[in-house]
Parts: sequence; C-alpha cells; structure tokens
Amino acid sequence: MNRLVLGSQWGDEGKGKIVDILTEEADVIVRYQGGSNAGHTVCVKDKKFILHLIPSGILRHGKVCVIGNGVVIDPESFIEEKKTLEALGVDVSSERLLISEKAHLVMPYHKEFDSRMESVLGENKIGTTKRGIGPAYTDKHARTGIRVCDLQNKDILAIKIKERVKDINRICELYGVEKFSSDEIIEKYYKYAEELLPYIRNTVYYLNGVFKNKRRILFEGAQGSMLDIDFGTYPFVTSSNPSIGGAFTGTGLPHKAIDNVMAVVKAYTTRVGNGPFPSELNDNMGQFIRDKGAEYGATTGRPRRCGWLDLVVVKYAAMINGVDEMALTKLDVLDGIDTIKVCVGYEYRGKKIGYIPSQLEEYAKCKPIYKTFHGWDSTKGAKRYEELPDNAKRYIEFIEKFVGLRFTIISTGAEREETIRR
Ligand code: GDP
Ligand code: IMO
Ligand code: MG
Repeated sequence: MNRLVLGSQWGDEGKGKIVDILTEEADVIVRYQGGSNAGHTVCVKDKKFILHLIPSGILRHGKVCVIGNGVVIDPESFIEEKKTLEALGVDVSSERLLISEKAHLVMPYHKEFDSRMESVLGENKIGTTKRGIGPAYTDKHARTGIRVCDLQNKDILAIKIKERVKDINRICELYGVEKFSSDEIIEKYYKYAEELLPYIRNTVYYLNGVFKNKRRILFEGAQGSMLDIDFGTYPFVTSSNPSIGGAFTGTGLPHKAIDNVMAVVKAYTTRVGNGPFPSELNDNMGQFIRDKGAEYGATTGRPRRCGWLDLVVVKYAAMINGVDEMALTKLDVLDGIDTIKVCVGYEYRGKKIGYIPSQLEEYAKCKPIYKTFHGWDSTKGAKRYEELPDNAKRYIEFIEKFVGLRFTIISTGAEREETIRR
C-alpha cells in the first residue's frame, strides 16, 4: 500500500515521528514540497534527528529516499544536513538518496530577499523561516528559476546564474541594497554541484518505475494544510501545496499511486509565525503546553504559539485531502490538565459557523466555541489503547466522531516505541 502522510494543522504535528514509524512498511519515501523550512524530529533511543530536506525515511536501513521535483533545494542546507546525519551514523549515500533533476534550487538572493521582505513588512511580516522558500517558488513560477539539472552542465549553470543575477542586481539597485556577484555564486554552486551530482536523478521515471513494480511508496508531507498556498490562511502561509495536490505535482506520480491518506493531528494546536489562530491561548495554559510539549521550532528555535485543538481546522483538512485515517500525536502533553477544551465551531457575526472564512480579516474575527472535557492522569508511553484512561478515550472518540475518521496511530511520547497502533 502507498501512503501519504500530511499535516492537518499549521505544521509541526509530529509528521516526522509518524513517517518514521510507517517507513517500516514502505520501500521508498518521497518528499514532494517545501524545502529546508521543514523541521521533522525523530527520536530513536538516546538520539534525536532533525530532518529538514532529507526525508525522515533515511533513518531506517535499506529504504530509498527521494527529494521530489516539487521541493526547493538549498544545496548549502542539504550538504550540512547530510554531514550532520553522517556524524550520527546514518548512511546518506547516493544508493539510498535521490534528488530530482527538476527540483528548483534555492539561491543566495532568495534567502537575502526572504529576510529583507520580512523586515520591510515590519509588523505585517509573515514570520517566515527565512530559508528563501517564498522567493525560490516565486522564481519557479515566474519561470526564472535555476534547477538541479542545471548543476549537471557547468557552462549552462554559469550562463543561467549570470542572467538571473543581472536582473536581481537591477532590483537591488532600485532598492539601494548591495548587489550580488555572479562570479562568487557561480564558484559556490560549482562546489555544490560536485557534492550533489551523485544524487541527481530523473526521479519522475524512477518513482514511476517503483510504482509499476509494486514497491511501496510513502509520501512525506512537510508543513500543514493550513499553511497551504491555496487552502491555508493566505497570505500567512508557505509558498507550496502541502495538501494532497502537491504530492502529484511534486513527484510526477499519478493519483492512482496513493492508496491511503493519513492526516497527522496534534492533540492541541500550534502555529509558528503570524496569522489568525482562533483557539490560541495567550495565558498560563498556553505556556504550560509550550513548555511541556517543548513547542519551540525545530528549524528556527522560535517559541510556537499554542492553543486548544481546533476541529474546524482538522475537519477541513480531512475534507480537502480526502483523508482515510488519522494519527494522533502528543496526547501525553495534555496529561495532568484538569479541564481540556476542543474548538467545535466559531462564533462569527453573532452566528455559529463550522467553516473557515476565506477572507483573513473575517477569519480573525472568529471566536472559538469550545466543548469541555475532564482531563486524565497519564497516557505517557502507553502502547495499547486499552491502557489509556477513560477520559483520554472519551477525548479521542469525540474527535473521531466529529471528524468522521479513526485514529489508527496514537502517539504517547516522542520515542518510536511510545506508540499505539490500532
Ligand atoms: P513535524 O514538523 O510535523 O515533523 O513535527 P516536529 O518534529 O517539528 O515537532 C514535533 C515534536 O514533538 C518533535 O520534537 C517530536 O519529537 C515530538 N513528538 C512527536 N510525537 C510526540 C508525542 O506523542 N509526544 C511527545 N511528548 N512528543 C512528541
Ligand atoms: P514542518 O514541516 C511550522 C511557517 C513559517 C511561516 C510560514 C511561511 O516542520 O511542519 P516559509 O519559510 O515557509 O516561507 O514560512 O510557514 N512554516 C512552518 N511552520 N512547521 C513547518 O514545517 C513550517 N514551515 C514553514 O513559520 O509562518
Ligand atoms: Mg516541524
């Protein structure tokens, strides 16, 4: 069976851990969108791995990982990540990791523009990860991007960089900021090319071969549905499609290649960066969840905004992605809380609604309507559903009924073993 694992909230749902578990049942793991803005954490015994560009599947022996064409690749970040993983004893050889020729490259000016745009926006800033993601996708869609396949030919690469930097420098001149040296960038990217070349493949044909040969594929989503450029809280979103559509455009695999869609749902909600978040808790409870759940960004270290679980959001993600089953994560973080709330609708213009208004200004006016639950002592480390306290089961079963889907995985700790399979 080929599975897609994606985030149902604003990212950081615990996709890394779930992908790591499901990798056991897959042969090939593919990332289809995003870039090094992602931070997927996997804890195995005393080791903690944080994956940004490389699929979390790399941690399991014998599995092949693919960075698909829909991903934007910062070679600097890739090389650093590879080194870090190797230092931790992970095999990151080109036999088990492939990079799509068609993927776009993140360039130094993308990173610089990302930072500058944010400072220009001031209070209205998006709160990006400053990894150059937005500008790299902008170049892709403006048809001015430089792709991984361009690294395969030094002359072509130099011409493309020169042409693009000429235009970029016109913009720099307009805004009175320091220009870029195309020679410096060319030299840097020649070095990157040497490191990346062994990994570069036509992954569209490779993946379709895998599919044809009935080897199992696991699609690893980054970010979450509410950060989707089309379906999220625009403009406070990322610049790709973390939702299901991205899995097709970002790999070249047909829709028939996905048999099952799994949405990862954190037992509460977090968000990094700006934008509306109706169930946000700006109080001691929010701080409690942040501390207990270690809700600090895996990529930027920023404190994550925390709040109660929002089921309007989860139901929306289930709808747009055609979700088949769900994975619940971080249930243990709610252990010991007396009263737990879940958002089941919004109060909007004096009425109760169950949808997400498209206009951001209107969404910002939505107030959460809560259903209250009694808390429980401990779920930490539980491995069987029967072990869970009754109140935790009530919480879980309410969510399942509300969304109309079952949790087939329940995570009760960061470790691989702290997991219930149903
Ligand atoms: P991702 O971006 O969706 O992969 O999520 P992150 O890795 O950014 O954030 C999830 C964090 O929660 C990581 O530090 C995980 O190690 C941790 N985590 C995952 N599942 C659980 C869980 O069930 N309980 C606890 N306490 N931590 C978890
Ligand atoms: P994972 O895969 C949480 C957020 C940023 C910002 C917005 C745009 O770990 O779940 P970008 O740098 O993408 O242009 O930033 O998206 N963001 C994430 N938030 N988890 C992520 O990835 C994120 N990747 C981007 O904080 O609000
Ligand atoms: Mg993350």
